[in-house]
Amino acid sequence: MASDWRSQHTDYFWVAHNKMHEAYGDITSMIVMGKPLIILHTRKLAVELFEKRHQLYSTRPDFTMIVHLVGWDRATVHMEPDNLWRDRRRNFCRLFGTRTLMQKFDGVQIYETSWAGSMILKIVYRHDTKAGHDPLVELVDEAMSQFIMLSRPGAYAVDFIPWLKYVPAWFPGAKFQREAKYCRQTLTNMIEVKEQMKQGKTAPSFVSKLLSADDYTPEMEYSVKTSAASIHSARADSTGAQVHGFYLLMVLWPDAQRKAQEEIDRVVGPDRLPDFNDRGNLPFVEALIKECMRHHCAVPISNARRALRDDVVEGYLIPKGAIIQANAWGMLHDPNIYPDPLNFVAERWLTEPSPPHPREVVFGFGRRICSGMIMADNSF
Ligand code: HEM
Repeated sequence: MASDWRSQHTDYFWVAHNKMHEAYGDITSMIVMGKPLIILHTRKLAVELFEKRHQLYSTRPDFTMIVHLVGWDRATVHMEPDNLWRDRRRNFCRLFGTRTLMQKFDGVQIYETSWAGSMILKIVYRHDTKAGHDPLVELVDEAMSQFIMLSRPGAYAVDFIPWLKYVPAWFPGAKFQREAKYCRQTLTNMIEVKEQMKQGKTAPSFVSKLLSADDYTPEMEYSVKTSAASIHSARADSTGAQVHGFYLLMVLWPDAQRKAQEEIDRVVGPDRLPDFNDRGNLPFVEALIKECMRHHCAVPISNARRALRDDVVEGYLIPKGAIIQANAWGMLHDPNIYPDPLNFVAERWLTEPSPPHPREVVFGFGRRICSGMIMADNSF
């Protein structure tokens, strides 16, 4: 089943949405199986809805497949914005909510640069990733491939015709029930990584830190486990995608890579790898990272939200229940802000004033903004 998820995720619908932007304007909508899907194409609109009107737009869609049949509402990314969700986000903040807090992981981050997911497994569980073939890494990869497929608006008829969830798995055409069962098990396996958690009690792991906190209660254990699962899944997926993007871009634009290499050779020298202290002295490398984030953003279209009631924005009605997404890829390829957007031009970040930093859109918006922004930035 694993290859199914990956092969289905090959069409770049954010590019198609961006064409609609060019044709119809900054806010576009379509009906997907009877429900309005609204795409925001500018940062201004995303900030207006997701930040300024956050009470109305901080809830994820209540898709039957991903929430009710598979159970992704156990992870932060798909929870209702309630007290439990706040608790999860607090867990993130307590460990790596600021740059100062993240500093204690500098060593791990440098050591674990070999694979995008290994550092998070080390921090969260003190799990040492095995080279080549690691069951925990594969489990996370699998869960995230499923998540991407499941959260896509329009992927499952049951999301729009909820009573279909009562159709038994053996019924002809009820393949989604078998997929739901399989995905639910993968998600549960990811949350219940008990062995790694036991190891985590020995050292500066996320899980052990939270479990030994002064205000720890046994009830917190479930919260900690699901927070940890949320972290390692999000980290492995998004940051992994960003790293893959980096490799692709460097193959396609070798001159940019050469220039960055020259800068590293000049500033750092040939005898060691660059580390966090060098960052401020490597302006071209910094520009190259920003251009990678812009050109090949890891989450091209942000996780969906649901309108809690009818609302009007710039004269357009947003009906209650509408699904809303911000097209980060489109925003980062707007030729009025980033001229020649399909070209990889690291130098655009070395001019004054430089264009808006990709982090203003790639990590989402408002109360549901990515909890791992600082860690992601450090890993780059
Ligand atoms: C390149 C790296 C990353 C990118 C581009 C990225 C992007 C995003 C985006 C777009 C969202 C949805 C925000 C919204 O709804 O407005 C999100 C949510 C989230 N991210 Fe990240 N992320 C990255 C890395 C990480 C890391 C390293 C972690 C954990 C340490 C993390 C944890 C989360 C969590 C828990 C959420 C759900 C927040 C919620 O719904 O309340 N992400 N991320």
